[in-house]
Amino acid sequence: MRKSGFFLALALSLVTATPVVAQMDVEDQINTRQSAFTFAAWNMGKIKSQAIDGDVAYNEQQMLAAANAIASVANSGLGALFGPGTAMDKNDNTKLKPEFFDKPEKAREVAIGFAQAATKLQEVAANGGDKAALAAQFSEVGKSCKACHDEFRAE
Ligand code: HEC
Repeated sequence: MRKSGFFLALALSLVTATPVVAQMDVEDQINTRQSAFTFAAWNMGKIKSQAIDGDVAYNEQQMLAAANAIASVANSGLGALFGPGTAMDKNDNTKLKPEFFDKPEKAREVAIGFAQAATKLQEVAANGGDKAALAAQFSEVGKSCKACHDEFRAE
């Protein structure tokens, strides 16, 4: 009895549960997305130091860890942190332009661009110590960050 009740509940939850967590309030969405981007930028900085600038010795494991972290951010479902009412027309502590909500197609495009570039970065890093290939894909990820910032982040 208990067991079948459990499986029924599980089956129902698989069908009906679209949101994975309860919607966060506006303040938490803003803080969490800012932290996520800061964390991604910290990891981009590691790759820049080792694969581009060369001011830190190249370490394949550290590059993979950084690429994994960036890909995790990009593929985490960040869209959930861009809910209605979270732009700068309604809040002082954010740089999200309100245009974000008028251009859903563009928002999708830049988000997908980021996810694809970051996933490829992870693949390149996982494929071994090719520093030049990592540097090239790092630059592609950087472009995907900029594509979104140019469109939706205020100066
Ligand atoms: C889909 C759009 C988008 C992508 C892709 C994106 N960003 Fe951002 N980023 C934003 C927006 C919007 C803000 C402003 C968020 C806010 O203030 O609420 C921001 C803010 C930031 C901040 C400041 C965080 C803070 O505390 O205010 C940093 C740093 C940053 N992004 C780095 C990056 C890096 C590095 C990448 C790529 C690896 C990246 N972003 C990709 C849209 C994006």
